[in-house]
Amino acid sequence: MEPLSVQEAVIVNQMLDVEESMLGPDVLDGLTRTQKELPPKYFYDARGAELFDQICDVPEYYPTRCERAILNQYAADIAERTGASELLELGSGTASKTRVLLTAMDDAGTLRRYLPVDVTDDMILRTAAELVQEYPGLQVHGTVGDFERHLGRFPAPEGPRLIVFLGGTIGNFAPASRRRFLKAVARMMCPEDTLLLGTDLVKAPAVIEAAYNDAQGVTAAFNRNVLHVINRELGADFDPGGFDHVAFFNREEEWIEMRLRAQRAHTVHIGALELDVEFAEGEDIRTEISAKFTRERLAADLASAGLELQTVYTDADERFAVSLSRVKRAT
Ligand SMILES: C[S@@+](CC[C@H](N)C(=O)[O-])C[C@H]1O[C@@H](n2cnc3c(N)ncnc32)[C@H](O)[C@@H]1O
Repeated sequence: MEPLSVQEAVIVNQMLDVEESMLGPDVLDGLTRTQKELPPKYFYDARGAELFDQICDVPEYYPTRCERAILNQYAADIAERTGASELLELGSGTASKTRVLLTAMDDAGTLRRYLPVDVTDDMILRTAAELVQEYPGLQVHGTVGDFERHLGRFPAPEGPRLIVFLGGTIGNFAPASRRRFLKAVARMMCPEDTLLLGTDLVKAPAVIEAAYNDAQGVTAAFNRNVLHVINRELGADFDPGGFDHVAFFNREEEWIEMRLRAQRAHTVHIGALELDVEFAEGEDIRTEISAKFTRERLAADLASAGLELQTVYTDADERFAVSLSRVKRAT
């Protein structure tokens, strides 16, 4: 794969090959199920990434504020405990909270390289260009890729790594695939690497539900964006305005479900798939789950992946957790 250089940053795009695009197969698979479903990674084209950033600023969306507060308080401790010289970030987005960690590693004198990974190429390019300016001497090696498929394609480590997965994104996996994913992350970790994981915690359902139903309607626009992506990329004729945004806390599963609910019975044609999809009035497409964690669930998931929980940092109200773990040593 030809790397593309942005000043001192190197970006490798793993998504360019035609066979790498899973959008068509995923949409075909998801929209022909009895319970229609779409994977959340397709929210994030340039517009979706912008909308996610706006979600982080709405008053109801506590996860970003809580995670940032935790990082502000404990970044120096994290830098000291891990001694990491490289920060590899899965689903890096705009890396706005990551800068707190990079600064702490810089202050500790260990920071050498930042390796962001995201499906959105705009994000990787913009973030890389900004960070080489903000941290003189920092090497940036970005990967435009899918962390579910490309974990083995990142640059080889050149020192102890802090592998960072923020924003509660781990909650977007269903429980069994979440544990499989953590196992795959553990397999790529060296003994000196540390995983820093952000997880949203179980709390009063009203607080959680408000966060996904903001009054300004930014989350609703973000939710509908997946239909714009499918229209553009697969020649579909979804009317995004004909679907209502629905988000509720599933108390049994302890996760948020985001759905798009058809306002009327109609048929959508998806040109690239030569597929007609029938919707009944009130029928839902599930577009995201966002699992909420207890400490027990977090520890059990990590343990089942062969990881040992070392520290859990939380905010003052225990709304969100950021944890450090390492690969369990063979005894
Ligand atoms: C919830 S946002 C979190 C962004 C940022 N880490 C934060 O904490 O604010 C999820 C990020 O992961 C990226 N993403 C989602 N699924 C992905 C996948 N399968 N592979 C790579 N990146 C993915 C999205 O593009 C987005 O930037």
